[in-house]
Amino acid sequence: MASQAACFVSGSMPPTTGGPHTDKFKSLTLCCPLGGEMSRSRNSEQAPPQLPAPFFNINNPDQPFQVGILQFGSLSVIITRYSITVSFPPAHLPIDPASTVVFAKSPSTPLQQHNMAARDNTDTARSNPVWGAVDSYALPHSHPASRPNTKALADALAASREAGLPEISVSAAQGKFLALHCRAAGVSHALEVGTLGGYSAIWLASENPGLHLTTVEYNAVHVEVARRNIEAAGLSDRVDVVHGAGVDVLARLRDEVRAGTRPPFGFVFIDADKVNNWEYFQLAKQMVKPNSVICVDNVVRKGKLADLGNNEPVILASRLLVENVGKEPGVDSVVLQTVGEKSYDGWLWAVVS
Ligand SMILES: C[S@@+](CC[C@H](N)C(=O)[O-])C[C@H]1O[C@@H](n2cnc3c(N)ncnc32)[C@H](O)[C@@H]1O
Repeated sequence: MASQAACFVSGSMPPTTGGPHTDKFKSLTLCCPLGGEMSRSRNSEQAPPQLPAPFFNINNPDQPFQVGILQFGSLSVIITRYSITVSFPPAHLPIDPASTVVFAKSPSTPLQQHNMAARDNTDTARSNPVWGAVDSYALPHSHPASRPNTKALADALAASREAGLPEISVSAAQGKFLALHCRAAGVSHALEVGTLGGYSAIWLASENPGLHLTTVEYNAVHVEVARRNIEAAGLSDRVDVVHGAGVDVLARLRDEVRAGTRPPFGFVFIDADKVNNWEYFQLAKQMVKPNSVICVDNVVRKGKLADLGNNEPVILASRLLVENVGKEPGVDSVVLQTVGEKSYDGWLWAVVS
């Protein structure tokens, strides 16, 4: 195992391919360096020097990479669902920290490797491999594999991946945090907008035996996968996956709560299409008990929230949410930035009085 003084290098697939998806990648190459010589030569307008040969290459043609810690001689490779980190013992230093891990489905040319690495570098500028490494280190201590829900959670992720669902669920640490909040607050009825394959739903319900969860999902395939996963986890009697568009379903639930035919909720987790967040928040506010939390995920987006020149619809929607919730009577809120295996984001955490 590499020592504490190890140097970390990490990477992720370019955004167009949607993350590392470790099960799909069969080779891993460390290219070095992107900075140093090459950027200096670009600045002085000389011809770029020849690309350095990758100095570290793992080919794994028969078996896809798995989440976990691998050892290759003195190098450790930590693979999480969203990042791959290579750590080197001090004997290997100096290694340029601008070195980049490149994942390839098949052997690529040095030019392709360089282009991938260049795209990757813009992302690593806003991420840090230590975040994922800390999740990988801490989770087995705070939630050992012997816990009863370990298999159900892992199976839900595997089945969702097999069904082709995007790998955009909360991280394990975030799922457990939300579940612990529900336990501490004694929540008996919770609401989620955005079920995906049911991963966060399984966290909430499996950690809280007295909790009933209503979770809303628009995509019929996701609904089917989630229901199967929740059934396999033995939670179907307490988790209701409602198929429909969030705004429509929430309006109906709100009417039921008002009519007294449904109990008010003690916690709401909003994690669906981000452009409707403010609408979801307003509806959620009308059907929660006093002192309930409404949590809205993914509002920070690697800091884009505060980049006022960024006008992407999702970012504008996040700003609208943060600003409006800040002015909303009877609501106190905070934006909490989060880092971890899912890189850098954050959620809006609001208490409705
Ligand atoms: C980020 S994923 C949810 C992840 C899930 N909470 C977890 O952590 O396991 C977002 C989900 O919201 C769903 N969604 C998107 N638009 C929606 C809408 N208008 N109403 C309900 N669900 C929607 C997507 O289909 C997707 O499954």
